[in-house]
Amino acid sequence: MTQHSHTQTPITRKWWKEAVAYQIYPRSFQDSNGDGIGDIPGIISRLDYLSILGIDVIWLSPVFESPNDDNGYDISDYQAILSDFGTMDDFDELLEQAHQRGIRILLDLVINHTSDEHPWFIESKSSKNSPKRDWYIWQKSDNGLPNNWHSIFSEPAWTHDAHTEEYYLHVFSTKQPDLNWKNPKMRQALYQMIRWWLDKGVDGFRIDAITHIKKAEGFPDEKNQSEQLSKPSTKMYTNLPGIHDYINELCREAFDGYDIMTVGEASGVEVHDAPNWVGEDVDRFNMIFQFEQLRLWGHADEMSLHLLELKKVLNRWQTKLHGRGWNALFVENHDVPRTVSIWGNDTHFWHESSTAIATMYFLMQGTPFIYQGQELGMTNFQFTSLDQFDDVAVRNYAQVKFAEGWSEIDIINDIQNTARDNSRTPMQWSKANGAGFTTGKSWLPINKNHLWLNAESQRDDPHSVFNYYRKLIQLRKTYKGLVYGRFQMLMADHEQMFVYQRHWDDEVFIITVNMSDDIAEIELPVACDQAEILIHNITDADGASGVFKPWEARLYRLA
Ligand code: GLC
Ligand code: CA
Repeated sequence: MTQHSHTQTPITRKWWKEAVAYQIYPRSFQDSNGDGIGDIPGIISRLDYLSILGIDVIWLSPVFESPNDDNGYDISDYQAILSDFGTMDDFDELLEQAHQRGIRILLDLVINHTSDEHPWFIESKSSKNSPKRDWYIWQKSDNGLPNNWHSIFSEPAWTHDAHTEEYYLHVFSTKQPDLNWKNPKMRQALYQMIRWWLDKGVDGFRIDAITHIKKAEGFPDEKNQSEQLSKPSTKMYTNLPGIHDYINELCREAFDGYDIMTVGEASGVEVHDAPNWVGEDVDRFNMIFQFEQLRLWGHADEMSLHLLELKKVLNRWQTKLHGRGWNALFVENHDVPRTVSIWGNDTHFWHESSTAIATMYFLMQGTPFIYQGQELGMTNFQFTSLDQFDDVAVRNYAQVKFAEGWSEIDIINDIQNTARDNSRTPMQWSKANGAGFTTGKSWLPINKNHLWLNAESQRDDPHSVFNYYRKLIQLRKTYKGLVYGRFQMLMADHEQMFVYQRHWDDEVFIITVNMSDDIAEIELPVACDQAEILIHNITDADGASGVFKPWEARLYRLA
């Protein structure tokens, strides 16, 4: 079925456009056996919670066999479940129980690299003549590293193998060797594995780090490489020309023929290039996570959001993709800190800014993703020692900084707000010891604010962040215009207010959000006078007034 918006751009209806997705980081979601590590039976026990929230799709971060150098993003067996998380029977049970509730499951497809403990790599490394030698990227070099590439995790991108006396490439940690996408046998092995999961009934994939699968031909030095390992230029292995041949083949040979949802993680892709990545053809992803909206802070030493820049970026993605592709909407995931702490204000306007940010991104054109705990307004963690961190990115970074003479406290201050572990601390289910996450000792520390910030206390409170998200989800289900409507930015230059309009057939919506700690004043669009307010995060504020309290957000539906 095709709907024509006012400018006649056809937009096809699809279940994955109307869906709301929820990301689970299994290690931190729910522990069922007291070992301090979240697991699949734990997830099953929380499916009812997710049903009440109203989500349609779960994106499950990796649950496969892994030595956990990068918490599952280093896979040693694509077709086995990590024993910490349970068994394949547990997984099958999860899939069935989710499907019974109308919830679909996307797996995390990590195919830029494997673990160095994957049998493919072990075989590849065993000898230069191994039939799998060429499944990874090996270089000979007699005078040190093959080139000046840095990995994304503050190391050289090459590691020496003493046995065969060559170097292998890894754009992430040394325990994550990159697969060689030039090798057709390797690619076919991946496609076969992917179809095995699809035949099992999984509903799609989030495709990890996929813009890195092509490397610069001949491995030349990066001319603008930074001197500092901690600030790598990733240019020589990010979104290079020709990468679409691989993407197209992957989509055709592995995904085509299944009614699934695919989301690519697309670091380095800009909007002008996006139509090559997303679309409804058989050789594109359904949507991508773009990175342009990340790290938009005013100044390096000041953590406040650069709102005008955020508005520009999102406006660009909304308008340029209209009718040509589909956006994945997100503000959080397991790689970025908690937005209420970095964009919002988690001390003075915790409730207001959590719900304002939610309103701002959730009502755009695209499929919204919620990262676990975001629906509760979970905040960053106050780290006091380096032992509290787990992330390989932090471990490597700290090593580099120690070598440069930094102290532990300097390093902590530097990464406090941005470290990935901020969003990886356990889910806060209740005020109990262990936050209802575990009865044992949790693998990462639990935020002390679970005493008041937890799911149990929010479930029945109509004004909670949780119930605000629930309502946003219901609104998207009720009004198709909030899913498909054309996006138009209003007041683009306003430095506090994020204001936009959605337009679809006879439906018009206006979203007005004060994204600041101060009162903001605007001239309300005239049409708002006659409009119904569908959601408003500050109950005692005047919805007819052009004066907005700090972080006040409203959604108008025009009559
Ligand atoms: C992606 C993942 C991240 C991981 C990296 C390497 O960016 O989201 O968590 O460290 O890929 O797999
Ligand atoms: Ca467990």
